Amino acid sequence: METAELTRNDTKLSPLNLEEEILALKKKLNAVILAHYYQESEIQDLADFIGDSLELSKRAASTEADVIVFAGVHFMAETAKILNPAKKVLLPDLNAGCSLAEGCPAPLLKRFIEDNPGHIVISYINCSAAVKALSDIICTSSNAVKIVEQLPTDQKIIFAPDKNLGKYIIKKTGRDMLLWQGSCIVHETFSERKILMLKAEYPKALLIAHPECEEIVLSSADFIGSTSALLNFTASSPANEFIVATEEGIIYQMQKRSPDKKFIPAPPNANCACNECPYMKLNTMEKLYLCMRDGKPEITLDENIRLKALKPIQKMLEMS
Ligand code: 13P
Ligand code: SF4
Repeated sequence: METAELTRNDTKLSPLNLEEEILALKKKLNAVILAHYYQESEIQDLADFIGDSLELSKRAASTEADVIVFAGVHFMAETAKILNPAKKVLLPDLNAGCSLAEGCPAPLLKRFIEDNPGHIVISYINCSAAVKALSDIICTSSNAVKIVEQLPTDQKIIFAPDKNLGKYIIKKTGRDMLLWQGSCIVHETFSERKILMLKAEYPKALLIAHPECEEIVLSSADFIGSTSALLNFTASSPANEFIVATEEGIIYQMQKRSPDKKFIPAPPNANCACNECPYMKLNTMEKLYLCMRDGKPEITLDENIRLKALKPIQKMLEMS
């Protein structure tokens, strides 16, 4: 895979110049920069729009820019390309994947579907275009419950690839679903024991969690939602302290929206920075600049797969 490097001429660029260069390139290319909340704070500050997966997909679907620069992970940029075949979609680092997408290869999901006939296939947007092409409906963490609730109660459902989100939907809707056994390496890392210790230390703090967390963490959460839902909750809640069980990048926006509130990252099991998504953090300001300067790495897709993957995304947008 290609990785961009700063050339000798570029090494004199300071971070401040990088910001100016990126903004100049944005104008020149008529580009829009879409960023997820898990990106580093400098990238979030530069972006035209920051959002959760659903909001980013909607922005990608409606943009009039010629170039979409996606500061996020591969499945997000790929979704933008599926929705905008005529536009150039750039991703600063092509290796910015996702453990959920990688844990669900299309040929294996295909076999799972064949082994369980008569099911509708709902896939979480954190999956490859090839998996989307095998699916009937795509969902995100912000609309999954709403989408499942719209299906007839006797409809049999396969849900892929996140077993934790799947279990959460089952609990919320009372529906039975066959679950693909995938998980997010970041959200599985939170330690329930350490969270309970933190709650004892900060008795007024609310525990807020992303539905990709394990059931044991979700069961003690005061609020569960997508990244945007968590952010909005912290801004509107009268509480002043929050233990945040999702990737730590979101805390930057939470603190910006509520400067006087306290945000405590939920601790991982080990003494590591495992609550940082290693894929999301592959994107840097340098790589953002280089991808815009060089017009690569670019997302490309087989047209046959794209057309098949488009249908379940459109279905999601209709049902959201
Ligand atoms: P959101 O759609 O909630 O932003 O989730 C994306 C993601 O990858 C969470 O790990
Ligand atoms: Fe994938 Fe987890 Fe990273 Fe989100 S946080 S992109 S689900 S690995």
